Amino acid sequence: MNFYGQFPSTRLRRLRTYPWLRDMVQETWLHPSDLILPIFIRTPDASAEIESMPGIRRWTLEELPQIIDQVLEVGIPAIALFPLTPFALKTVDGAEACNPENLICKAIRAIKKMAPDIGIITDVALDPYTSHGHDGVWNGHIVDNDQSLKLLTNQALVQAEAGADVIAPSDMMDGRVAAIRHALDSNNFQNCAILSYAAKYASSFYGPFREAVGAIKLPPNPHGKAGDKKTYQMNPANSDEALREVALDLQEGADMVMVKPGLPYLDVIARVKQTFSVPIFAYQVSGEYALIKAAAAQGWVDEQAVMKESLIALKRAGSVGIFTYAALEVARDLILVYSEVSYNNAPTKRLIPSRTSLPFNDVVDSAPSKEPAQKK
Ligand code: PBG
Repeated sequence: MNFYGQFPSTRLRRLRTYPWLRDMVQETWLHPSDLILPIFIRTPDASAEIESMPGIRRWTLEELPQIIDQVLEVGIPAIALFPLTPFALKTVDGAEACNPENLICKAIRAIKKMAPDIGIITDVALDPYTSHGHDGVWNGHIVDNDQSLKLLTNQALVQAEAGADVIAPSDMMDGRVAAIRHALDSNNFQNCAILSYAAKYASSFYGPFREAVGAIKLPPNPHGKAGDKKTYQMNPANSDEALREVALDLQEGADMVMVKPGLPYLDVIARVKQTFSVPIFAYQVSGEYALIKAAAAQGWVDEQAVMKESLIALKRAGSVGIFTYAALEVARDLILVYSEVSYNNAPTKRLIPSRTSLPFNDVVDSAPSKEPAQKK
């Protein structure tokens, strides 16, 4: 990197003087089209409420138009579906995942009918369907990788048949991308894309999600300690390994890759971005969302500002899109800000949201910026 000039001839504050100038040199922008909304689906007998995720609820198939209308209204391009499977349907092998009449497949068909232009991304992993809560087949000692591949492949196939546009394996079994790509191609789903959760960490930030999908408490590990997913999800201490995961998934046919969780793993996003020229997605996971909501509820942080700052950080690190439970509220806020952007008091109403002044651009401390026209 070249540095040009020195203080005092060089003053970096110059380009921070006015809102229009800050906007003009802004390197990264957040836009509703960057956001993917995860949606939880339930049966009518299950509760809608998710205690640990304020503002988020589960929807029945009948209620889906309510949430899909909101997605359309704010211009969010795609959604990701997750089910709360009735307890009675959970089994050791999670076979309900492969039932073409399961909640997810029904939801896909319903949404395709009501909003054919919304992208539907479906999760491939067995945890919402297994009686033990693991993402693959549990044989009492370990999660059996190759046994799991068969079920995961069938799960991907029923989702594609129901109309899913993007298959997103989040299970972290080795070889699942190749198995799924092969199954899709041999069944005429060559255009069904794969977004692999390539660098998915064994994170403690997934707690609220596990409540949302009713994931069972995991069986204790061989040392008798509380169960975890550390034999298949990545160690949070590693990042070289993330590059190997991404490389393998790309070789196996992944079209896009995910880094998950989001904010604690910005370095991983940046390394993947530097190493591979492929679309990267970040997942602002349930725990990240819940932390912000909880602090905001106490009045300790500005909710929308912190939410948007977290999301733009994910973009700055190198992701092209973000899965976030805050997608609707952030998109609404962005549209508002876009439509109100005006410089020199010009009454511009931008009809098409393009660039925005994010709230942290509007913080006026030293800048003589409020009415730049009079400030000569
Ligand atoms: C399932 C899955 C999980 C998440 C997305 N897909 C949970 C897990 O791996 O235990 C977490 C999402 C979130 O926390 O928001 N494999």
